[in-house]
Amino acid sequence: MTGPWWCFISLAAGSATFGAATVSAAESELQAVQVVCGRCHAPAVFLKQTRSWERWNDVFADMTKRGANGSEEQLARVTTYFLENLTLVNINTSPAEELAGVLGVRDDVAEAIITRRQSKLFANLAQLSEVPGVDPSKLEQRKSRILFGPEPTSP
Ligand code: HEC
Repeated sequence: MTGPWWCFISLAAGSATFGAATVSAAESELQAVQVVCGRCHAPAVFLKQTRSWERWNDVFADMTKRGANGSEEQLARVTTYFLENLTLVNINTSPAEELAGVLGVRDDVAEAIITRRQSKLFANLAQLSEVPGVDPSKLEQRKSRILFGPEPTSP
């Protein structure tokens, strides 16, 4: 790899080919988190927290320095897990990879969201649901992590 592992989110966010047939993608992602991040402390340290992707990248960098490691496939699953379950996104400011990962949409749908916000910012989930390819049931699951401010995600 040529960069830190958490930079490879396109590998994680775009793929639908995870896992053996017997294990669902979601389970194998959580397993990877337990293996990679549960070695030195209980995953409970972070499993209930939400942060911006930038803040999670700081954590990943810190943990890598402390010795966190895994196969490329495990690390891709870890990034997918964090994006899908623990990452805050701002529909009006976040980059395409974060929109795709957090909302669970294809890259072209994330690009369509960006095109639309350039002419008019999104105000709420209903407006976001109107973008073709956005799955309202996924938005409902993730709504506590979806922000619409003009300002970047915090904390
Ligand atoms: C090689 C050991 C090791 C591994 C593997 C590891 N951590 Fe840690 N982690 C630590 C240590 C040491 C601390 C500091 C504990 C303390 O301050 O009491 C810590 C603290 C944390 C904290 C609390 C501090 C903060 O910045 O909020 C979080 C969150 C965290 N780890 C997340 C993770 C995640 C996510 C992974 C997997 C990518 C991971 N850790 C893997 C050693 C590790």
